[in-house]
Amino acid sequence: MNPINEKSPEHFHIMVVEDEELIRDMIQQNIEWAGYECTIAESGIEALEILDGDSNKVDIIITDIRMPGLNGIELTKKVKENYDSDVIVMTGFADDFDYEKVIECGASDFFQKPINPKELLLRLKRVLKERILLAERNRANNELKKNIEKLQNAQEQTVAALASTAEIRDPYTSGHQKNVTKIACSIAEHMGLSADLIKGLRIAGLLHDIGKISVPAEILSKPGKITKDERNIIKNHCRVGYDILKGIEFQWPVAKVVLQHHERMDGSGYPLGIQGEEILLEARILAVADVIEAMSSHRPYRAALGLDEALEEIRNNRGTLFDPVVVDACLDLASKGKVKFE
Ligand SMILES: [Fe+2]
Repeated sequence: MNPINEKSPEHFHIMVVEDEELIRDMIQQNIEWAGYECTIAESGIEALEILDGDSNKVDIIITDIRMPGLNGIELTKKVKENYDSDVIVMTGFADDFDYEKVIECGASDFFQKPINPKELLLRLKRVLKERILLAERNRANNELKKNIEKLQNAQEQTVAALASTAEIRDPYTSGHQKNVTKIACSIAEHMGLSADLIKGLRIAGLLHDIGKISVPAEILSKPGKITKDERNIIKNHCRVGYDILKGIEFQWPVAKVVLQHHERMDGSGYPLGIQGEEILLEARILAVADVIEAMSSHRPYRAALGLDEALEEIRNNRGTLFDPVVVDACLDLASKGKVKFE
């Protein structure tokens, strides 16, 4: 689109398409007197040739309807399909006037001959004003879209950076958050949940163990049994994660999902001991994905138990610890070989 809102009025370029020389000259004169640049074309075909030569230059085309070859309605359609110019249609025959047809083909305005120069210029100015407003709106929209994209990229990069800080300190769970996210998102998709919910689930998944940053590395990588105190320190990662994330204004309840990812359906989880639907759906999905990934992977205190045992665990605790709908979706995915992670 022309940067027309940067043009001074005298730089607007109008093209008059009219097969009758007298009328064509009269319109051209009036347009030039008003200070606009004006090009003339004797037919629709010539008008298209001019547009092809320099399509960005013409802001508004004023065209007659009845012309040999391409008529004004056909010309308007072609202009709206292929070029950026606005079109004002004029006609000298009452029978030609079909408002619906004129608007349907994309014209911005119309008027009837005999031409009243004052009316012609008023209509021209109005269409130009709309054109300027539209160009400004498009530019503002494009700017807004670019800024939203930038913000989304920045958010994704921030989430990835945050996620990696937790994993750098705990090599045994390196990749755990990514794998859990993959499983959780597959389950959510299989459940037919909305793309928007899945976006939020993805972020919560990538950050669900961020609170482990507060757990001393020697506890995280301790090969033997851990003490009760050590267990309590580890359990605190949900609250720490919540505290880290609660100040970030995500579009989704990321901090709450992180807080709740160790809650269980029967209230036996932590840190709040909430149950059933008090637990956010995203957290109920993460709980299942977390168990599947953790049991399938190697840990400092035990070897990997394998996917089958993990599936057995969620099957046995379907409805007690884990949301039955989420468990069913996960088992169904697994039966199709679709529970996969690195
Ligand atoms: Fe966790």
